[in-house]
Amino acid sequence: MLLNKKDYKNKKSLIIYFSRADENYAVGFINKGNTEVIAEYIKDYTNADIIKIEPAIPYAKSYNDAIEEAKERQKNHNAPIVKEINDIYSYDVIYIGAPVYWGDMPEEMVTALKNIDFSGKIIRPFTTHEGSGLGNIPNQIKDICKGAEVEEGLAIRGSVVNGAKNKVEYWL
Ligand SMILES: Cc1cc2nc3c(=O)[nH]c(=O)nc-3n(C[C@H](O)[C@H](O)[C@H](O)COP(=O)(O)O)c2cc1C
Repeated sequence: MLLNKKDYKNKKSLIIYFSRADENYAVGFINKGNTEVIAEYIKDYTNADIIKIEPAIPYAKSYNDAIEEAKERQKNHNAPIVKEINDIYSYDVIYIGAPVYWGDMPEEMVTALKNIDFSGKIIRPFTTHEGSGLGNIPNQIKDICKGAEVEEGLAIRGSVVNGAKNKVEYWL
């Protein structure tokens, strides 16, 4: 059964996200990644717990180098992370946030999600991007997070995250 918008906000929620600062497309050098800005808005509105997925091997600060690293990690399905997520047992709603990397999630998100049991959970995906919208990310989530109900996602252009708080609230 679908919950109405109000019900989502009152459920016990967890945000799992990836975000990279440093040099990026359309925004130059930034101290805080775009997806992190959106994740923090969601936290403000929902009081959710929040987990940032950190790559064990940091991406290059240079955008041009980072995109090559990202492509390589996706191709080889090799992207270790600093800390695995233990369990999500106590949460009803899981917000999964990622930048679109070559149409997909950063491979670190795949590493983080693939061993978790999502049975019975509601997943609300969100992305930041520079043209791809949600990309293939909802499909990836449906593939990886077996047993979850994956709701319609929110896609925000990375270069305008700072003005997007209202859009996030509306989606929530
Ligand atoms: C490795 C890499 C690959 C990217 N691939 C895409 C893409 O396929 N489509 C797109 O719209 N944007 C792409 N972008 C732009 C990012 O999705 C966008 O800048 C996003 O807001 C970055 O989020 P973050 O600051 O939280 O890491 C890419 C950026 C990087 C660094």
